[in-house]
Amino acid sequence: MSERLQTHSNIWITGASSGIGEAVTRALARGGHRLVLSGRRAQPLEELKALAPERILTAPGDTTSKEDLRGIANVLENHGDLHMAILNAGTCEYLDITHYNSDVIEKNIHTNVIGTARCLDIALPALRRTRAKGLPATLVIVSSSAWWFPFGRAEGYGASKAALTYFAQALRADLAAEGIDVVVVSPGFVKTPLTDRNDFPMPFLVSAEEAADRIVSGLAKGRNEIAFPKRFTWMLRMLGTLPQALIDRMAANMARKSTTEQENNG
Ligand SMILES: NC(=O)c1ccc[n+]([C@@H]2O[C@H](COP(=O)([O-])OP(=O)(O)OC[C@H]3O[C@@H](n4cnc5c(N)ncnc54)[C@H](OP(=O)(O)O)[C@@H]3O)[C@@H](O)[C@H]2O)c1
Repeated sequence: MSERLQTHSNIWITGASSGIGEAVTRALARGGHRLVLSGRRAQPLEELKALAPERILTAPGDTTSKEDLRGIANVLENHGDLHMAILNAGTCEYLDITHYNSDVIEKNIHTNVIGTARCLDIALPALRRTRAKGLPATLVIVSSSAWWFPFGRAEGYGASKAALTYFAQALRADLAAEGIDVVVVSPGFVKTPLTDRNDFPMPFLVSAEEAADRIVSGLAKGRNEIAFPKRFTWMLRMLGTLPQALIDRMAANMARKSTTEQENNG
């Protein structure tokens, strides 16, 4: 039986101000945990604090800013031992291949990879201090299953999440000796403000509440890889076993279809 979340834990959540992070915040608050919430917008964090003002602190900031992270570190220090950091803040910017612009790639990588890596500057020392007291310490990184298949327009997003998953799994190897768990969360499509902008069909879309349930129950069960919904992630895994030439043909067909639909809609 996993020790994670079995007692009331101190948890830092980034990207708590909307979507999956907000739903995970609500689920953990219901479970009686003590939370520190981050995101750039202070107002939604304050609204979430009202769920349990005695157990929730807000620490607004940009996770790509080292200065903002120093401010967040001060809040974390006032919150007691850190048992879990859920690094969920992220963005998704699509590339328009007819007007290729590397800024799109940079934005995805900067927020999703560099921002998450910078969060570790403050999370890792705090988790190490907790672990040194013999308590469980868990680092949770919200990646995506999007990079398991070469989806057109997702060059920047997919590359950032592939990098993030590699980063997390290599950290898992390095931190195993210290007994710090590293969990990778790989959602399929989840209905949030991020996907509300998508103008293409999203198979097996789940609600943010369902995503939060999967994440929190996977964490409590001690899972280090949490991927959902299963019908989507299994389909992607199956596609991944096909010969590359076949994958390329399918991906090109999908990209062509999506471009045609956009042209028809626009
Ligand atoms: N929705 C999906 O289908 C899906 C699928 C797979 C993976 N994911 C991943 O799940 C995570 C959450 O996404 P979501 O769908 O819940 O999107 P969302 O509703 O847009 O939430 C993104 C969160 O990240 C925060 N954020 C973004 N940039 C930030 C920055 N530089 N500094 C601090 N906070 C920042 C946002 O808060 P502020 O705007 O207040 O800063 C917001 O709270 C992301 O990592 C995303 O890639 C989502």
